[in-house]
Amino acid sequence: MADTITITDNRTGKQYELKVTDGTIRALDLRQIKTSDDDFGLMSYDPAFMNTASCRSAITLIDGDKGILRYRGYPIEQLAESSNFLEVAWLLLRGELPTAAQYADWTHQITHHTYVHEYLKRAMDGFQHDAHAMGKLTAFLATLSTFYPKSKAVRDPKVREEHIVKIIAKMPTIAAWCFRHSVGRPYVYPDNSLSYCGNFINMLFNIGQPRFDPDPILERALDVLFILHADHEQNCSANAARAVGSAETDPYCSLAAASAALYGPLHGGANEAVLRMLGQIGDIKNVPAFIDSCKGGSGRLMGFGHRVYKNYDPRAKIIKELAHKVFAVTGKNPALEIALELEKIALNDDYFVKRKLYPNVDFYSGLIYQAMGFPVEMFPVLFAIPRAAGWLAQWQEMLADNDQKIARPRQIYTGSDIRDFVAIDKRGA
Ligand code: ACO
Repeated sequence: MADTITITDNRTGKQYELKVTDGTIRALDLRQIKTSDDDFGLMSYDPAFMNTASCRSAITLIDGDKGILRYRGYPIEQLAESSNFLEVAWLLLRGELPTAAQYADWTHQITHHTYVHEYLKRAMDGFQHDAHAMGKLTAFLATLSTFYPKSKAVRDPKVREEHIVKIIAKMPTIAAWCFRHSVGRPYVYPDNSLSYCGNFINMLFNIGQPRFDPDPILERALDVLFILHADHEQNCSANAARAVGSAETDPYCSLAAASAALYGPLHGGANEAVLRMLGQIGDIKNVPAFIDSCKGGSGRLMGFGHRVYKNYDPRAKIIKELAHKVFAVTGKNPALEIALELEKIALNDDYFVKRKLYPNVDFYSGLIYQAMGFPVEMFPVLFAIPRAAGWLAQWQEMLADNDQKIARPRQIYTGSDIRDFVAIDKRGA
């Protein structure tokens, strides 16, 4: 069987044979389909990239119908059970699990680049006390680019590597300081003897202790959450990192763009929106009415639905189990009952069943974060820290891909045809 497709253009009666590779045709191959010599050629129209592969990628696989997520071939369930975030970050970036020596060196490098320039504190001081943490994080990613102008040499693999390490190492420091700034507490400097997540918890919650020992269950829970959030193939923010990075923008600014994308309530901001929604519902008895209002179109059931998953998000399953372990330490989040009831009703409701709307990663993660003492504004930040590893893996892969060029979609122009300028006094009312 030939791996080609024959297209008959009914406008001209001409036939074209296009190659099919990996279940796709090259959109550029469509350009030969023309009605006349001065015709630009056929394009495809695909707002929101509903059916367009923008790249070839070997990093993450999602099978949305089966509810499968794998990083570099490894099932997310196995990584969540047996790995840790730093190992997963290496895996995403390098394609293989590290050897013991590579892992030790990687951990050493990350834990020794956790400090940030003191001037960053001055930038922090410029924000209002109630500035949203995600706005601050996004700004600081771009600010870091001004401290590291050499990171602009994005075609140099050594430079890329240096700044990949810096970004992964500094994300928890910046994130923790965003939190401390919002609650008016002094910044805590990194303790490089702690684990990646242990140090993060230290910088968040340590008050005046020379040595802070995080609760091992909470430390591990955060590590698992970081693993689950580390990458998700061509999502809105990874696409932003790739698109901005394709202009050869430095990695800090490329990630600032990704962070801005993640901020939105339809993406990483959803975990925050879920908690606000649960607060608004207020009581389990109000759940049926709330579900009806969603079905009536007056709002969405936040934390439900996904562009790719048309089955239970495998990350949501792991998080739901994790929640019970965390609540054993922190006490149960009272909003859990409302969330469970929402899930129960929605999963049995025709509206949600027909549209294949299941809980996504954000439905339960916020409940854990809240129980751990985070304000809702910090939720998307907690998503951004591990996702930085995924963004960097995607950014790096994009730069190494010879098929890629500066991202520049086409449009279908729907505006006016040419017309003559009209002087202001001749334009009427
Ligand atoms: N609640 C109620 N109805 C919904 C929901 C929801 N959460 N999600 C989708 N629908 C409905 C839509 O109204 C639409 O119905 P229609 O066919 O009658 O018009 C249908 O399901 C399809 O929805 P789309 O918006 O076309 O789906 P899309 O793939 O574009 O959107 C998205 C996916 C943005 C995630 C959407 O499901 C949503 O808004 N969910 C809530 C926000 C959320 O939880 N986002 C986090 C996603 S995970 C992440 O980014 C980390």
